[in-house]
Amino acid sequence: MRVPLMAGNWKMYKSVGEAIALVQALKESLADIADREILVCPPFTALYPVAETLKGSNIELGAQNIYPKEEGAYTGEISPTMLVDVGCRYVIVGHSERRQHFKESDEFINRKVHLALEHGLRPILCVGETLEEREAGHEVEVVTKQVQECLAGVTGEEIKEVVVAYEPVWAIGTGLTATPRQAQAMHETIRDILQDLYGQETAEATRIIYGGSVKPDNVDDLMREPDIDGTLVGGASLKAESFTRIVKNDE
Ligand code: 13P
Repeated sequence: MRVPLMAGNWKMYKSVGEAIALVQALKESLADIADREILVCPPFTALYPVAETLKGSNIELGAQNIYPKEEGAYTGEISPTMLVDVGCRYVIVGHSERRQHFKESDEFINRKVHLALEHGLRPILCVGETLEEREAGHEVEVVTKQVQECLAGVTGEEIKEVVVAYEPVWAIGTGLTATPRQAQAMHETIRDILQDLYGQETAEATRIIYGGSVKPDNVDDLMREPDIDGTLVGGASLKAESFTRIVKNDE
């Protein structure tokens, strides 16, 4: 009943020309996929040309960040209305790279979640522990706090539009994937938190996707886990061949 979401986070890669070439290839290779949602999240500079290229396809568009204001004197920032205007349906918030390099707090991320929802953008809320936190046995505590604080004030109706992405920081760009068991365990924990907050039916309907060194050769095992409802792919989403294989997992 949860439609898998297979998403690519391109991070700070791809010129406009490269971005168009990549989505043109994906449009062809993924044209027959109807049983899962496919999403690409290019850098801001490529959003408009990618949106134009994707018209009429089964691939959706998302952004990698927003600023939580509708407009104003915020030099260098991008508002939710601008993202909607350019054709975005999703936006990634709370990615660990933003938490780490730009010192984003749960409270700030919570404001992004609210403003995205107000404008009809579906937030993909990223949570995940660092290696030190896992080694100290604190991963559940850390992720619980992130989920609770980033979703503060989000209603039972609104949560249906939210996707939670579990991305253990130690697995991002390192080639170290969480084992399917480790990932499943945390996804189950996140679903339990959602159940406490919103009840069982809503928790069962909310998608929790996994990110962190997802590759063609580990995606099948990850996707077999009952609480893994899709993937958020970094490096392997930058090539049509590997992202296609990941989206089509187990076919
Ligand atoms: P990698 O797939 O490159 O590890 O990146 C994961 C990620 O951060 C997706 O948001």
